[in-house]
Amino acid sequence: MRALAVALSASLLTATAGLAVADTPKAASKAGARDEAAFIEALLGKMTLEEKLGQLNQPPGPDNRTGPQAEAGGLDQVRRSEVGSFLGLHGAARTCQYQKVAVEESRLGIPLLFAGDVIHGFRTIFPQSIGEAATFNPAAVEKSARIAAIEATAHGFHWTFAPMVDIARDPRWGRMSEGSGEDVYLGNVLARARVRGFQGDLKRDDEMLATAKHFVAYGAAEAGRDYNVADMSERTLREVYLPPFQAAVDAGVQTVMASFNEVGGVPMHANGPLINGVLRKEWGFDGLVVSDYTGVWELEKHGIAADDTAAGILALDAGVDIDMVSDIYRKSLPAAVRAGKLSQKTVDEAVRRVLRLKYKLGLFDDPYRFCNVEREQARTLTPEFRQAAREVARESLVLLKNEGNALPLAKGKLRKLAVIGPLADSHPDMLGNWAGDGRPEDTVTPLQGLRTALGSATQVSYAKGASIDGKDTSGFADAVAAARNADAVVMFIGESAAMSGEASSRTDIGLPGVQQQLVEAVKAAGKPVVAVVFSGRALTIEPLSKTVPAIVAAWFPGVEAGNAIADVLLGDYNPAGRLPVTFPRSVGQIPLYYDHKNTGRPIRINPDGKEEKYTSRYLDSPNTPLYPFGWGLSYTTFRYDAPKPKLAKIGAGDTQQVAVTVTNTGTRAGDEVVQLYVRDDVSSVTRPLRQLRGFQRVHLKPGESKTLDFTLKPDDLAFLGLDMRKRVEPGTFIVFAGGSSDASQQAQFEVVAQGR
Ligand code: NOJ
Repeated sequence: MRALAVALSASLLTATAGLAVADTPKAASKAGARDEAAFIEALLGKMTLEEKLGQLNQPPGPDNRTGPQAEAGGLDQVRRSEVGSFLGLHGAARTCQYQKVAVEESRLGIPLLFAGDVIHGFRTIFPQSIGEAATFNPAAVEKSARIAAIEATAHGFHWTFAPMVDIARDPRWGRMSEGSGEDVYLGNVLARARVRGFQGDLKRDDEMLATAKHFVAYGAAEAGRDYNVADMSERTLREVYLPPFQAAVDAGVQTVMASFNEVGGVPMHANGPLINGVLRKEWGFDGLVVSDYTGVWELEKHGIAADDTAAGILALDAGVDIDMVSDIYRKSLPAAVRAGKLSQKTVDEAVRRVLRLKYKLGLFDDPYRFCNVEREQARTLTPEFRQAAREVARESLVLLKNEGNALPLAKGKLRKLAVIGPLADSHPDMLGNWAGDGRPEDTVTPLQGLRTALGSATQVSYAKGASIDGKDTSGFADAVAAARNADAVVMFIGESAAMSGEASSRTDIGLPGVQQQLVEAVKAAGKPVVAVVFSGRALTIEPLSKTVPAIVAAWFPGVEAGNAIADVLLGDYNPAGRLPVTFPRSVGQIPLYYDHKNTGRPIRINPDGKEEKYTSRYLDSPNTPLYPFGWGLSYTTFRYDAPKPKLAKIGAGDTQQVAVTVTNTGTRAGDEVVQLYVRDDVSSVTRPLRQLRGFQRVHLKPGESKTLDFTLKPDDLAFLGLDMRKRVEPGTFIVFAGGSSDASQQAQFEVVAQGR
């Protein structure tokens, strides 16, 4: 096979100016950018228009199921040079088979790219992305992406459609589960971590291309309904929705995916000003833009293209290089080019971008470098990967409430434990959505995890009680009986994995079905009850918070779910996960996020204890969330001193250091997520009341204090002025330090005009 690859690429090289036929493609690929360009130009020179548009075509693989039914690309198409890459075709043997046809049987032998959605693990499933974000641990998130890349590349993938870096502030939107939550700073940090984890420096055969998606403002879909319209000011776009994409670009992400939504009347698949303008020109992104699934064709549904040809022209002109699934570029654009409706130059530029990635991955040297059956076996679900998944999973668990130290359960003293609820033993739900090649049978459920951890000393009974979203209460009696007969009860409740993710928006984000009634019925049995809640989004669980003394938000923890949960419930691991999204009290408060503005009439409490009428508030609900962003408890307690800015005054272009001292005042060792927020007191444009500007997850022994240094760079104090240019304005700034976005320890410093 290798010899064939060499022969193939050698034939390409015959046309390469300045390179002898005898030069192997390997030499070409290792030789540097000039030779890369020469190689690609020579290849481009040999390609017909149809072959070029074939490179821009990405059909689904035979088993892909990530969108509406579409015809899969087949080997014949590969033979005819009609395919440049596949969506969702994997497996070492299978990718080898397709690659072989591309290399040996297509006219120019250009290798294929195999792409797919490797989001939070491939076979070793890590916590759902929102859960990973709850770790507030970029190193853990990077490691998860790294392991996903090792597994996925061993299964033939070159390219993942991750990370999703969309800011999500509306929990009705099901895709909140796939990202890093509501905050721009956290989103930026984790975007970079994931890009590093997937791509490394793209030199090894276990590193893969990453994709920052969905460009842009997809998370701002009106009413939280997936695929819906987004509309916003340029300021909000630039300050909230664009930054994580820029962070990913700065981290070297090689590809970006266009989003399904429109922004201000222009569907993103036709949005030249944002794709060619902001992404490419302004930020200098020189990678490739891929459409979303049938995104090109959907321009017709948006009502801005009358037919396929018009849709294809709009998308390619806007800078969308690859057409995923629509099959419009391949079918309709040759005639458009010939008719002069689309420039050959635009086509060539897109093809160059595809070929460059293939070159970068070394596929012209060795098209089979990612398909090796032995490696595939050796690098799948290894004990080391599982251990990493367990560690990340327990770091992702958020202790929302723990009245009277209901948790951890007293492991040694517990004789009988009742495990109740529809998620206690549900293997598939542990995986979450976008679970790659994850298998339910690989997962450890909470019931299994607790039984293993407790051993024979504790009798663990189990009753499902109810289904996740049914109305049937006939299982309540068994659940109540199990509770009566136990010393303590743990309930595993919440959403199914399928209730979040793509095309899974909900208007009611409380506990589905009859689960709240089930909790109340079990509680009435009189035994201590704690709840573990699964979800891919923030939920409205105020009724639950009033029913039980302790709640753990578990998201969807992945293959090691049950072990990680047992670690936390039994106190073998002290939880420290934090909410990457605000938990509202009700859907009526949405959108609710911590870094909001003050308004001219902020809510005010009068001396009689009542809220002032003419202020920004609700008649029927407090403004405050149930649990704020950054929230999460521990089995120990922490004390914060006031943060200490190093300098009382800094110049507008200067960097400030802030020292934060935190002490473990409890009796257990544990992690604390130390958070630093900043407020610009007075500025020419309104600013949020506070914004996260730094966080560090640190481990503290009982009684131990640590002083952590945070650096505030000019960018951390800057905002877009009236002229939409970044600036730091002189004036006072407040820094807040603590374990959540409601941190109260604060200090002030001043920024003075430079040179004053
Ligand atoms: C549609 C989704 O929006 C996108 O995130 C995904 O990568 C593609 N389908 C491919 O599966």
